[in-house]
Amino acid sequence: MFSLFLRDNACLEPLEIWHAEEFAAHLDRAREHIRPWVGQAFVTDDLDGARATLRRYAERQAEDGARLYGIRLDGVLVGGVMFTDFSTAAGSCEIGCWLEPAAEGHGLVTDACSALLDWAFTSRGLHRAEWHCRADNDRSSAVAVRLGMALEGVRRQSWPYGGVRHDKQIWAILAPEWLRTGSRAA
Ligand SMILES: CC(C)(COP(=O)(O)OP(=O)(O)OC[C@H]1O[C@@H](n2cnc3c(N)ncnc32)[C@H](O)[C@@H]1OP(=O)(O)O)[C@@H](O)C(=O)NCCC(=O)NCCS
Repeated sequence: MFSLFLRDNACLEPLEIWHAEEFAAHLDRAREHIRPWVGQAFVTDDLDGARATLRRYAERQAEDGARLYGIRLDGVLVGGVMFTDFSTAAGSCEIGCWLEPAAEGHGLVTDACSALLDWAFTSRGLHRAEWHCRADNDRSSAVAVRLGMALEGVRRQSWPYGGVRHDKQIWAILAPEWLRTGSRAA
C-alpha cells in the first residue's frame, strides 16, 4: 500500500471506501472542530455519511479529478488533505485540509499539502493551485502563508454558516513560484 513518509511518526495515505469505519470514528473526534470551517457536505454524522464522502472522492478520482488522503500519526487517522478540485484541462487545482484537535500544531498539514503541491506541479504539470478559506480562519490562512501562497482576493459574504454570510479568502501559488522555492516557504 502506498504511504508517503512525512516525518518519524506521521505519514500520508490514500483515504478510500474501505476506510469508512475508521474515517467515521475520526470524524467523531473532529466533527465539531471542523464544522465551521469546511464544506458542509464533508461534515457527516454517521458511517453511511462517511462512506458517501469516500465514494464521492473515489468517483471523482476515477475521472482524474478530486482526491483524498489521510494523515496518520502513530498509525491513527488524525486528519487529511485533499484536492477538492483538480483539472488538467484548466491546469489548476484547489487544495483543502482538516485535522482533529489533538493533531494541530505540529506542521502535519503544511507538510502534507507540500506533498500535494509537489505532485500537482512536478508530476502532473499543473500551473496553479488555490486555497479557499473563511476570512476569519486564521489557522487555515497561516497554512497558505507557510506554503508560499499569495492572497489574491476576497469573495465577500460568499460562505454562509450559522445564519451569517462570511467572507472567503482566495489564496494561490503558481508552478514557477513553487518550483523556484523548491518547497514550502517556512
Ligand atoms: C487548518 C488546520 C488544518 C491547520 O492546522 P495546523 O496544525 O495549525 O497547521 P500545520 O499542520 O501547518 O501546523 C502549523 C502549526 O504547527 C507548528 N509546527 C510545529 N512544527 C512544525 C513544522 N515542522 N513545520 C510547520 N509548522 C510546525 C507551527 O508553529 C504551527 O503552530 P502554531 O500556529 O500554534 O504556531 C487546522 O486548524 C484545522 O483542521 N482547522 C479546522 C478545519 C479547517 O479549518 N480546515 C481548513 C479549511 S479551509
